[in-house]
Amino acid sequence: MTIWNLGSINADLVYDVPHLPGPGETLAASGMSRGLGGKGANMSVAAARAGGRVAHVGAVGADGQWMVQRLLEYGVDTRFIGEVDAVSGHAIIAVDTSGENLIIIHGGANRAISMDLVGRALAQAEAGDLFVTQNETNAQAEAARMARDLGLRVAYAAAPFDRDEVQAVLPLLDLLVLNEVEAQQLEAATGLAPDALPVADVIVTLGARGCRWYGAEGARDFPAFKVTPVDTTGAGDTFTGYVIAGIDRGLPMPQAIAQAMRAAAIMVTRHGTADVIPDLKDVQEAQF
Ligand code: RIB
Ligand code: NA
Repeated sequence: MTIWNLGSINADLVYDVPHLPGPGETLAASGMSRGLGGKGANMSVAAARAGGRVAHVGAVGADGQWMVQRLLEYGVDTRFIGEVDAVSGHAIIAVDTSGENLIIIHGGANRAISMDLVGRALAQAEAGDLFVTQNETNAQAEAARMARDLGLRVAYAAAPFDRDEVQAVLPLLDLLVLNEVEAQQLEAATGLAPDALPVADVIVTLGARGCRWYGAEGARDFPAFKVTPVDTTGAGDTFTGYVIAGIDRGLPMPQAIAQAMRAAAIMVTRHGTADVIPDLKDVQEAQF
């Protein structure tokens, strides 16, 4: 089956800092690197690394073709990435010595995706394919509705949190992935705790404490592996990409989640985002 991901593509500008800057503070970075990122691109690369067939739907500006090229090198179908008249999405990321981060994103081209492009992509989809999206593009809810009408299963990561967006897509979902803070924000907006949401499978990620899955048979906890964090950026996206690839491969949810926990643990020990997402072999062979 194919995984269709309507998602952001960002140039990640990563700065290593002694601590995360406070208001009014000027801080010198000890190192800097540029790589492929964006919650969408990270999920596409993770799902492809996990062995999935992934088509990314999105947009870059003329300055972003290197990112399309990189997605292609990582095995992602890039035929439905448009070039638009806008600056490509990018992110300024500060990472401190404990691996904690602070991220500023500029949506740019990610917010100029046409429904025409989405329609042309999903015209190639087959019932039973998976559609996935997050909150760094435009058109999530409209695209999710289209995917659902075509008989696709729909997954959504509620990041970065947007109370209107999440409520618009909620009735369309088969799988919702969100972190603890997003789960609280969603509960504040809807009055619904994760176990009461009208979605078949809900996964709340808990950082170093693992995650909790709410499925048909109730809640189940998955502990995280103990690793020394270097850079947590992209770990959540890698988790979601791996879960989706697992579901696509027909793995039962607990197995898909267990594999995704391993992938996320590796990711936390690596500097960078899409460029360093581990493949399935690395994930299976990792010793924790
Ligand atoms: O989740 C990590 C991602 O958030 C980064 O790759 C950055 O581009 C932002 O989208
Ligand atoms: Na990382």
